[in-house]
Amino acid sequence: MEILDKENLPGHVAIIMDGNGRWAKHRGLPRVVGHRSGMESVREIVKLCAELKIKVLTLYAFSTENWKRPQEEVDALMNLLVEYLHREIEELVQNDVQIRHIGRATELPAPALEAMTVATERTCKNKGLVLNLALNYGGRTEIVDAMREIAVKVKEGELTVSSIDEGTIDKYLYTAGLPDPDLLIRTSGDCRISNFLLWQLAYTEFWLTPVMWPDFRRRHLLTALIEFQQRERRYGEIKG
Ligand code: IPE
Ligand code: IPE
Ligand code: MG
Repeated sequence: MEILDKENLPGHVAIIMDGNGRWAKHRGLPRVVGHRSGMESVREIVKLCAELKIKVLTLYAFSTENWKRPQEEVDALMNLLVEYLHREIEELVQNDVQIRHIGRATELPAPALEAMTVATERTCKNKGLVLNLALNYGGRTEIVDAMREIAVKVKEGELTVSSIDEGTIDKYLYTAGLPDPDLLIRTSGDCRISNFLLWQLAYTEFWLTPVMWPDFRRRHLLTALIEFQQRERRYGEIKG
């Protein structure tokens, strides 16, 4: 079996943490129990990424489409986020993790917004893993928001139309300043993007697994990283 080359890790790992509901259903439990169990996976994976000195980990926690779920489930998910941030903040600070939020912050319920603001401010000077939490995140919404800001800059004369290039768009996305993901993981067997990082995933390597998110452990991430290291990224060129 191949072993992990710690000098050649992806700079940015993004994860679509999917399958909490099915995990619970298979056990005859309410969906929210699946979400709660998924928190344990988050703990473990964040810790491993910090240990490995991966630079950025983006976790898809709640999409702009997830508001369509029953209110009870939406409330449970928001409460779990607040609980996670309260419970984990000391350890995250100790591990030098910098928390960031991507998504439309203004539409979050007040307690979730408050917890996120406190956590980002508390960890903003940390130099280790950037833990990017995608909450009320949608790739299309992100592009809409960027376009609106760019349009305002053009209108105000701060940007010219001909100067707009890919770099300009990067700068106005929620992920401004962060590298694009090198590796995207989706758990639970579905093979779709579900409106995640549409712009940033242009040349990302995908790793899909049938493992449900609450069952996702260190060994699964290590397998994904080892397999990632065997990929040949060509970016449209001819190599080898
Ligand atoms: C992922 O699990 C968590 C969120 C989308 C918030 P799901 O709740 O989507 O679980 P499944 O896909 O229904 O099994
Ligand atoms: C994507 O999962 C969003 C998150 C993991 C937060 P969904 O479960 O919402 O995606 P679909 O609806 O199956 O595409
Ligand atoms: Mg799902």
